[in-house]
Amino acid sequence: MKKTVLAFSRVNPQMAERLAQDFNVIIPDPKQGDIAAQFNEALPEVHGLIGAGRKLGREQLADAKNLQVVSSISVGYDNYDVDYLTERGILLTNTPDVLTESTADLGFALIMSSARRVAELDAYTKAGHWTRSIEPPHFGTDVHGKTLGIVGMGNIGAAVARRGRLGFNMPILYSGNSRKAALEQELGAQFRTLDQLLAEADFVCLVVPLSDKTHHLIGRRELALMKKSAILVNISRGPVVDEPALIEALQNGTLRGAGLDVYEKEPLAESPLFQLSNAVTLPHIGSATTETRQAMADLACQNLRSALLGERPQNLVNPQAWKA
Ligand code: DGY
Repeated sequence: MKKTVLAFSRVNPQMAERLAQDFNVIIPDPKQGDIAAQFNEALPEVHGLIGAGRKLGREQLADAKNLQVVSSISVGYDNYDVDYLTERGILLTNTPDVLTESTADLGFALIMSSARRVAELDAYTKAGHWTRSIEPPHFGTDVHGKTLGIVGMGNIGAAVARRGRLGFNMPILYSGNSRKAALEQELGAQFRTLDQLLAEADFVCLVVPLSDKTHHLIGRRELALMKKSAILVNISRGPVVDEPALIEALQNGTLRGAGLDVYEKEPLAESPLFQLSNAVTLPHIGSATTETRQAMADLACQNLRSALLGERPQNLVNPQAWKA
């Protein structure tokens, strides 16, 4: 008998078709009423869940008696209660690697846009304000040759660092839990404590996963350590930064600018950030290219399929659950 899979976010038609070859697939449909109600109703019979952007833990999964796997279409897994899933022997999979380069591209787009005021001056031109040569109040700041600080030198951090070092001749500093000898060799990257990095870097790019340890890693104290001329870029998770403290620093001019893809609460419907010309605000699009989202969907399907057919999935977040 075919196992049943439930999607907990939008899935593309090819993905649904592919899953339907092996499984009964349930995709809640907004036209049929409340999505959450449809999800909860289907939950007791499902063996696999696939999707992204939804909190799943004890409270949400209590009725999922047959659940064997949660396949997340994301690299980050802060939405899931990993300990709870492991305790119940439910596998959790994610989609690392396939989004590394696209997310690093976006990180660099934020560095460039913040430094050269790309989004702000695009709006200026389109509003018809360009009536004579641009003068110093609208000048940006250089990126090439400036110091780039990477907070969290994982795969994405390393990909941002490579762009900075090889494309823009930037000295690279990094902080994190461990030294990366190969990257020190490849890029001349230098290890710093977080405080030292914040004090020295011209651009600080946050690429750490969200955890209890990294929640509000950058708060008022840390922002005060940064140079007044520095730019903070966040492509990790919103809660890594104390957002009200950041807004205050941007309003007071104690920080030059910020390039943000993520926020404490998403979607960001209203925020003082919208009034700040020194903040670039994107709607969490780190991995949002056609090619990368397709690759993530393919990998998530593959992980789900392996788990439900009894094979060890390629990208297992909680190997203890597999052993169990
Ligand atoms: C991830 O995969 O965790 C990214 O944030 C995607 O949106």
